[in-house]
Amino acid sequence: NTVGYVVGEVRTDEFTFVTNREIAPPRLEYIVVQVQDPERAIQYDVLAQVTKLAVSSRLLDTSLSYNEVAQILNRISTSQPIIVGTAQVLGYLDGRTVRYPRHATMPGNPVTQAPDDLLKRFFSQDVESGIDIGSLINRDNVNVLLNPNGLRRHMAVIAQTGAGKSYTVGVILEKLLQLGGSIVIFDPNSDYVKMRRDESMRVTPFADRVEVYRMPTNQKGRISDDEIGGAKKFTMKFSALEVEEICAMTGIPEASTNIRKALQTAHDNLRGRDYAPHEFLREIERIAAAGGGSDAGGEWMPRGPERKRSDQESLPEMQDFHRAAYAKANLDVDWEDFGVDASDDAETPIAAPPRSEKNNGDGGKSLSLDAIAGAQKAIKYVERLTRVDIWGFEQVPIQDLLRPMNLAVIDLAGVDSWITEFVVDKVLRDLWGEATTNGLPRPVFFVLEEAHNFVPGGQGAKSQAAYIIKRIASEGRKFGLFLVLVTQRPYKIHGDTLSQCNSQIIMRLTNPQDQLAIKQSSEGISEGLLADLPGLNVGEAVILGPIVRVPVMVRIGHRLSAQGGNDIDVVKALEDARSAVVIDKRERQVKQERAQTKKTEWLEELDA
Ligand SMILES: Nc1ncnc2c1ncn2[C@@H]1O[C@H](COP(=O)(O)OP(=O)(O)OP(=O)(O)O)[C@@H](O)[C@H]1O
Ligand SMILES: [Mg+2]
Repeated sequence: NTVGYVVGEVRTDEFTFVTNREIAPPRLEYIVVQVQDPERAIQYDVLAQVTKLAVSSRLLDTSLSYNEVAQILNRISTSQPIIVGTAQVLGYLDGRTVRYPRHATMPGNPVTQAPDDLLKRFFSQDVESGIDIGSLINRDNVNVLLNPNGLRRHMAVIAQTGAGKSYTVGVILEKLLQLGGSIVIFDPNSDYVKMRRDESMRVTPFADRVEVYRMPTNQKGRISDDEIGGAKKFTMKFSALEVEEICAMTGIPEASTNIRKALQTAHDNLRGRDYAPHEFLREIERIAAAGGGSDAGGEWMPRGPERKRSDQESLPEMQDFHRAAYAKANLDVDWEDFGVDASDDAETPIAAPPRSEKNNGDGGKSLSLDAIAGAQKAIKYVERLTRVDIWGFEQVPIQDLLRPMNLAVIDLAGVDSWITEFVVDKVLRDLWGEATTNGLPRPVFFVLEEAHNFVPGGQGAKSQAAYIIKRIASEGRKFGLFLVLVTQRPYKIHGDTLSQCNSQIIMRLTNPQDQLAIKQSSEGISEGLLADLPGLNVGEAVILGPIVRVPVMVRIGHRLSAQGGNDIDVVKALEDARSAVVIDKRERQVKQERAQTKKTEWLEELDA
């Protein structure tokens, strides 16, 4: 099954071959050429892939005019075109490993179609505990196995929306789970909540190894717990939070030392108790009110320029500790009134330093003054926490997430981003802490959908979870923490973090900015593969990096479990709308008829 002969200049990484119309292999087809190693006096079969096919004619070249071409075509009935293919060398097998040839093939050598069994040796065999991801894009009968060891260096799944990322990740996770993996999925779109059921609602073989944790939200249109086969509540124990964590979650700036002192004081006061956020808030209010003293009258948020002026004037004369504190608190509040957005970076750094300098000499007394002042401002932050539904007296135990052969889906749908960031941050930090202090009994795979939101690149974009994700990306593999980042905007994700994902599954991607981001982050991607990305269909992928022996184009295989997600079926919605209109019309008709009959009955009665 010769498909051509090597011609022209031959390099170790690329060669051209001439073929004809009948036998020309299609683009992306796998072909084989022989390469001789003169030092070792051996020959080996090198696998290559057709990257380009060019058709030309010596007779009909571009220098000819229209009439000349017409005359030539009149005289000869057929003209033999020249078909030249370009192929990229992928390597040859030396036992189980793929090596890159150090010699080029020779012009004149035959080019043959790669037999299935050779391709199987390349892509489906000798991969210990391989993950069957699908088949070669142009050879249905050659499966592609991913090497789980390649996941040690993290993986990214990248494609534009709708290309099939979540489906693909589902396929991988089903296999990884059955191989024994401990997996935690952060799922902002409920894409994985149905993994215990297939599309026909039948139970999947790994159903009892899937645990779905959901936050109590009252989001409309949510997939019900029944539909997913039951769920556990994802709650956080508020009293187990450190002050630092509360600050990070609510966005209390580093410079807001008073607020932090207030929180710390409340935290210390309540230490050892199992308290809820509203109890914490009450404690903060108590501290704030302590500063208000008797003449505050419980109103601790006075505003307006008059109040400020009078307090400033009387400040030096005040002997009373509480009154001084109260005045200081007023100053704090007033700073906010100077146009600083209170909800976010509330405290201006200009305001903070002079005050703390002034008070540093006062020792312990000033600390409580600061705390009292801070407490008044802390209230609105803590109030924000009391409105969140994730608090409970139970916390999902870390050990549950570390169980062998266990897939934990943390459903983050319908929750504000500051909470999802907090949850991702908290879970990752807790596991990081466990991994670095006690060590993990087995590796844990984290899947992070919408990764660009949690570890954004560029300036301005922030996420509370970014720090720990970057840390795990750069050091996690030493401790058995492996990331699978999923994103539709590679251009918006933190570049170094993306580069740490040595394995990549890239699907259809048309945006040039995103393609550039991939080019910059991936060593393995060639111009040829990049150019192929816009042409991929849904469910087709380019796979690169240590999870595969050589870069490969794959048609993703079948996923057993049903996909979640909350996409509205527009066709069905429109259908429903149409039938609603029909029903409406019929109802109106019936009503009218009824009204008419009533009238006639009444008329008849009258007549009678
Ligand atoms: N390999 C596949 N075989 C069959 N159907 C697929 C395959 N891949 C994707 N699909 C279907 O295509 C649609 C989009 O897939 P999916 O939700 O995985 O895309 P996505 O890249 O995750 O999109 P988004 O960015 O919106 O999350 C789904 O309806 C899915 O069922
Ligand atoms: Mg998706």
